[in-house]
Amino acid sequence: MTPQSPGAPAPGPEADVLDFPLPPPGTMGPPETCARLRESRPVTRVGLLMDATAWYVTRYEDVRALLADPRLIRPTINDWPPRPGPAADDGPGLVTMAELDGPRHLALRRSVAPAFSAGAVRDRLPRIQALADRLLEEFAAGGPPGDLVAAFTEPFPLLVLCDLVGIPWQDRDWFLPVLDAALGGMVTAEEGRRVTGLLHAYVAELIARKRSRPGDDVLTLLVRETEDGTLTDDEVTAFGLSMLTVGFGISGFFLAGSVHTLLRRPDQWARLRDHRDLMPGAVEELLRYMPVMNGTVLLLATEDVEVGGQTVRAGDAVIPVLASANRDESAFADAGRLDLCRADNPHLAFGRGTHNCVGAHLARAELTVGIEALLDRFPGLRPARSRQPLWDDQSVTKSPLTLPVGW
Ligand code: HEM
Repeated sequence: MTPQSPGAPAPGPEADVLDFPLPPPGTMGPPETCARLRESRPVTRVGLLMDATAWYVTRYEDVRALLADPRLIRPTINDWPPRPGPAADDGPGLVTMAELDGPRHLALRRSVAPAFSAGAVRDRLPRIQALADRLLEEFAAGGPPGDLVAAFTEPFPLLVLCDLVGIPWQDRDWFLPVLDAALGGMVTAEEGRRVTGLLHAYVAELIARKRSRPGDDVLTLLVRETEDGTLTDDEVTAFGLSMLTVGFGISGFFLAGSVHTLLRRPDQWARLRDHRDLMPGAVEELLRYMPVMNGTVLLLATEDVEVGGQTVRAGDAVIPVLASANRDESAFADAGRLDLCRADNPHLAFGRGTHNCVGAHLARAELTVGIEALLDRFPGLRPARSRQPLWDDQSVTKSPLTLPVGW
């Protein structure tokens, strides 16, 4: 579960609860506040929606430790906001892979690993490149100027995912608005539960379709594994829900943010265009530098935990701020500078530990192919003179909503 929207500080005696830090309107971030917090209040309380608060953790070492600490779990929507007593039993909840734990989580990770391995993604590169080329051909045909988000950075990772996982591309007009509602559903718990129920029903129907009409895709593969009991339907459902909720949106945000950032540095754009051997390191640096994950991972302490000298009590929510950790000077020299040739880059963009990103190799391939396809087709790509990008200034995942470009 992710706290997609910030909220006002919770009322009550805790006067030192901060407003949820957001980048200044019209900018990406990470919030300037993060740099100050790393200095003086590296573990501090912030307000979330529904009168909840969380510990906001900004230093690299603390974030790194938290991500792999088994004493903190990822809460389902039914456990949110945290309250004493057993979790509410009112609906299916948005149980994705992140909220599974223990042997069942391990079994599912084992089953999906081959499809998302570095080798499998490498074998798939020609298909991924063909999808990028198809979209850019259509974009080019529309002539300049055009919006690169609507035409490319948004649909491209979704096309790749649908093709790999076996989600029908033509269903997107139905599931995209439902996903928007589910991920913004923290506004009221009831609405969140209603839309997650719809998503559950959709994935259950997809699983039934794969049983009756198997395809050459990851969902079919997993459905087969239910036949001998290696996996259960609930686990395949958790996988399907994961793909819908985190399998394409974040890649699109990173791609849009990366292109936006590079186009504002024409020298860097030209350097990449002319020195393709820089791409692997450049992609890692863009993953470190892009401030998309300003607070999207939400953890719940199951026992008292010491974090950066602060006692976090059992039941407290904790947000390890990946975008802030990736700009921590104690881990990265000249952390605020985009250095496409950075040598030592242990960024935390894909998390860490048993819940680290399943799709890391795929995400890297999407960024690489996406940027290279743009460099090939539009070597002179530039921000459109007449229009500025639009931003969703209320979202914690910052990336441009539109990217007007010319060529
Ligand atoms: C640039 C793009 C991406 C970034 C930065 C990213 C980042 C992350 C992070 C930080 C986590 C860990 C969250 C936590 O600790 O709770 C995560 C988990 C996950 N990601 Fe990604 N992700 C990206 C793309 C993808 C893609 C393309 C897929 C699949 C197609 C994917 C699938 C998953 C899944 C299934 C999990 C949950 C794993 C588990 O709990 O076992 N991600 N991702």
